[in-house]
Amino acid sequence: MSNYHIKHLEEYYQVYRKSVRNPEVFWEEIAEEHFMWRKKWDNVLSWDFTKPEVKWFEGAKLNITENCIDRHIYTRGDKTAIIFEPNNPDEDAQHITYRQLHDKVCRFANVLKEKGIGKGDRVCIYLPMIPELAISVLACARIGAIHSVVFAGFSSSALATRVKDCDAKMVITSDGSYRGSKTIDLKGIVDDALNDCEGVESVLVAKRIHSEINMKEGRDHWLEPLLEEAYHDCVPEIMDAEDPLFILYTSGSTGQPKGMVHSSGGYMVYTAYTFKNVFQYRENDIYWCTADIGWITGHSYIVYGPLANGATTVMFEGVPSYPDYGRFWQIVEKHKVTQFYTAPTAIRALAKEGVEHVENHDLSSLKVLGTVGEPINEEAWHWYDDNIGKRKAPIVDTWWQTETGGIMITPIPFATPTKPTYATLPFIGIQPALMDEQGQEIKGNQVDGRLCIKFPWPSMARTIWGNHQRYKDTYFSAFENKYFTGDGALRDEVGYYRITGRVDDVVIVSGHNLGTAPIEDAINEHPAVSESAIVGFPHDIKGNALYGYVILKETGESRNHDNLRKEINQLITEQIGPIAKLDKIQFTSGLPKTRSGKIMRRILRKIASNDTANLGDTSTLLNPDCVKEIMDGVL
Ligand code: PRX
Repeated sequence: MSNYHIKHLEEYYQVYRKSVRNPEVFWEEIAEEHFMWRKKWDNVLSWDFTKPEVKWFEGAKLNITENCIDRHIYTRGDKTAIIFEPNNPDEDAQHITYRQLHDKVCRFANVLKEKGIGKGDRVCIYLPMIPELAISVLACARIGAIHSVVFAGFSSSALATRVKDCDAKMVITSDGSYRGSKTIDLKGIVDDALNDCEGVESVLVAKRIHSEINMKEGRDHWLEPLLEEAYHDCVPEIMDAEDPLFILYTSGSTGQPKGMVHSSGGYMVYTAYTFKNVFQYRENDIYWCTADIGWITGHSYIVYGPLANGATTVMFEGVPSYPDYGRFWQIVEKHKVTQFYTAPTAIRALAKEGVEHVENHDLSSLKVLGTVGEPINEEAWHWYDDNIGKRKAPIVDTWWQTETGGIMITPIPFATPTKPTYATLPFIGIQPALMDEQGQEIKGNQVDGRLCIKFPWPSMARTIWGNHQRYKDTYFSAFENKYFTGDGALRDEVGYYRITGRVDDVVIVSGHNLGTAPIEDAINEHPAVSESAIVGFPHDIKGNALYGYVILKETGESRNHDNLRKEINQLITEQIGPIAKLDKIQFTSGLPKTRSGKIMRRILRKIASNDTANLGDTSTLLNPDCVKEIMDGVL
């Protein structure tokens, strides 16, 4: 039996038991046998959730890029590491071998060094899904710089917030990006953002769309000539296992985005191990995850997890609808993709367009299908199973978070029998608990509660950049001695988990995690707005969409409401990005509040969802009359 590669249900249970009975022995063996360390650890794990402090493989030395690149050169140097599939199907795909990847990452790393970047410096990466994105991530890791990738759909002000929060010294971007039939002026967005970020000393610019852009003398540098001149080898910086590898921002229910900090050693071990098992990756497979590297899914399961296993990973620059709705399936056919990992929102959007876009493509290479990011509804699950996997490729519904670094609850394909809408069983080493509102663990099956994790796992985020107290308050204060996920879940009669959704003010829209507070802040900046509240409501394609209740100042009340709606969405686009736009905006004269002045979002959520049969007791509200007004005006 191999602990590293689980193939049967019996094996899963055996390995699972081992992993929770004696986690340290278990993870030590995985780490020792499957990775390259410059020095072994002094201690496998120390932890205290009250501080909270978690350390895995303390004292160990490594560089993750040696694990993701160098060690493969000897065994699979000419194997393709990355397949780059461009936005335009007429442009040739690129195949980058492990040997070439080594060369490209080393050159890039030397450019970073030449521009004054060293161990521990923060580098913000704002790039489209082009090879330079994966390469720059790895180049940072090579020299021990901490990368902070910002999804290139975020606006200049969202970018500026993230650059400033981690005090980045450098930004890496491109002249622009392709997105379906459109181009986006990325460099212009960076220029706007940097008006407000004094700490950035240099900007590296990759050429992608060959547009005319502004280059600021002394600050901005074209990447290509620098890479050409750079030396092709770069000695890796030797890192402590607990040194930060990257920061990735995620929305909170309140306040600024949280810069989740991930470690070098534990993150590597867990993402590699989950990748191998959750996708049952075998040597000649072609794995494709459609996420953007700007999200955690891309970090863990386009870059680090696959490359640590010597896999071939596909990077797709475009969108599922361009040039038509068959694009995903055309790519699967073209590259003979074996594992395909996407979001329920993409499945729903494609299902709506009909099976004719699927039928003319050969999908017989597919062995495993995955979903991530939000609950998958039964209809979408069956569409995926019937039309894409042809009922032969198991669907892994993987539940996890930016904070968890890797997949936490998931079937293991060919081992765990799947069940639509269920993420099924905890992955090896993961100890979930369902809690009631009094803080007690709910034991047994056929129960539901708030989902917590009782014991540390190697890839958990270690802190929030610059704000450890917030890390403690958000994740370790709701339930004693447990990590609180913010999700609700139920456990069925055989112990399978189904995630029921967020229990806080985060809304998952098209698989993107959006905090309501920053959106409200953006709306409230409109001169005609006095107050606002955002909630999610069910949406056929996006899973959830955003509904805004807005109170206008007297000056705004006479204004044309449609124009105001447009202006509000424009503000949100500028402050956060188009993903946070509201589907519906209702103007109202009041918002339901408790006597202490807190907005009762539960009521607003029910009204927006057309679920008003049981609104609960509204008589204790400060202003019960507004509930009727809101119900009468619902859109
Ligand atoms: O609510 C859960 C939902 O997405 C949240 C995490 O979002 P983010 O940090 O952006 O990471 C997404 C990709 C890992 C979770 O708290 N979520 C994620 N996967 C699932 C899910 N909800 C239901 N089922 C899933 N498989």
